[in-house]
Amino acid sequence: MSESNKQKWSPDRYAANARFVSDLGMPVVELLAPKPGERILDLGCGDGALTVRFSELGCETVGVDASPDMIAVARARGLDARVVDGQALDFENEFDAVFSNAALHWMKKPERVVEGVWWALKAGGRFVGEFGGYGNVAAIVGAVEVALARRGAKAENPWFFPRPETYRILLENAGFVVRDMALFPRPTPLPGDIGGWLETFAGSYTSVLPDVERKDFIAGVVKDLRPVLSDTDGNWTAEYVRLRFAAIKPGQP
Ligand code: BEZ
Repeated sequence: MSESNKQKWSPDRYAANARFVSDLGMPVVELLAPKPGERILDLGCGDGALTVRFSELGCETVGVDASPDMIAVARARGLDARVVDGQALDFENEFDAVFSNAALHWMKKPERVVEGVWWALKAGGRFVGEFGGYGNVAAIVGAVEVALARRGAKAENPWFFPRPETYRILLENAGFVVRDMALFPRPTPLPGDIGGWLETFAGSYTSVLPDVERKDFIAGVVKDLRPVLSDTDGNWTAEYVRLRFAAIKPGQP
């Protein structure tokens, strides 16, 4: 989840508009191939919907996330879940694997993330994840930034969507051996219109506007994006692009 203090996380809104995030996370869980007894760190665990899967498989899990509200939901599931900024991990030689789904794009200091993961892993441990890659939600970002500009406003893009070669170099510079690195489109059907998505995820943009303008702003972006992201029956699809990777910290456990 977010490391940005302008993005506010509401567990209820997340459950209504973004349940697909964990539902679509199974391929990356399969790439991780968790084994019973392994100690796994879920980096950016959100409400813990995927973290519980590791526990059910007999793994020892720790979930970390920057959002206290999301961590409260994860704890209510019985998880060991902690409020920690993924860019300031403080574990040493503790985990067999670090897993991350749909969270790393919120962390704009990726060198710090990768270094913290390196320290958190035991020798031979693996770092497996998936997040937004180059080109992710490009039409949405474009429409939001144009709509802000029309109002004379501007906000920093809150996301890190790297090219695969950029992320590979980052991992290798930290000492990882990269086993998998793939960038691929994954058009993602939304449970409602793009307004719900913007309310859930685009707080860093909308927060630069006065409260009274936000509803109208979102309605305008929905109108602009309808011809791009909605079919004639009103089904909305966001143009997600995923970067999926697996890397190993070399050495004997
Ligand atoms: C993503 O999972 O790609 C994503 C989610 C929210 C905002 C931006 C990207």
